[in-house]
Amino acid sequence: MTPEAFVATLEEGNRALLDALAGKSAAGETPGAMGVAQLLKVALKNELEATELAALWLCDTPEIDARLALARQCGDEAKHYRWIEERLAALGVDLTGFDPSASGPSPLLTHLRSLRTTVERAAAGQFTREAIAVARNEVFAAFCDERGDAETAALYRERIQPDEQHHHQLGRRLLLKYALTDEAQQAARAAARTTLRIADEVQELARLKAGMCRLPGC
Ligand SMILES: [Fe+2]
Ligand SMILES: [Fe+2]
Repeated sequence: MTPEAFVATLEEGNRALLDALAGKSAAGETPGAMGVAQLLKVALKNELEATELAALWLCDTPEIDARLALARQCGDEAKHYRWIEERLAALGVDLTGFDPSASGPSPLLTHLRSLRTTVERAAAGQFTREAIAVARNEVFAAFCDERGDAETAALYRERIQPDEQHHHQLGRRLLLKYALTDEAQQAARAAARTTLRIADEVQELARLKAGMCRLPGC
């Protein structure tokens, strides 16, 4: 199919799974002790992994426009890390000695790191993962509002979300340009599906193990 038709079907297929993911993230009670700050600390790990992944892919992605997109994303995710760190400081959280990567790479990072082609990376890492981030961040921002933390909600809605939307659009542009063959489209679709499946599993595990829901994304 044409790249336009392919991207439209990929988006449609993702939509239902994304809605389910966001619905599950918003479901259930977040334990009273599990506040905005705890969830922001998990967000630091996501932003760091997104930064590192973009840097890693930047080195061995052949197409210049894809590399520049990754460079932009890498800088944005590092900036998000700093913004969240600043917000945590304002909330009185001491991050001395806190290493978000201490628990090792997430299953999502391990999956994404294994992708070799530009279309798989654009489909999974940008088009899909960034759409997951946008969906989850909105759930998280609503949770911040519920907890009376308008500033964190505004950080997400006004500063972080526009960047994550942009990363998703970067993925769309790359797919429209490079997902030209059936083979490339099949690989891209499979990588995107696996990304959503792993995101769902990780989210459910976080809920079962730590009672965590409403977690923000990258
Ligand atoms: Fe992002
Ligand atoms: Fe981010």
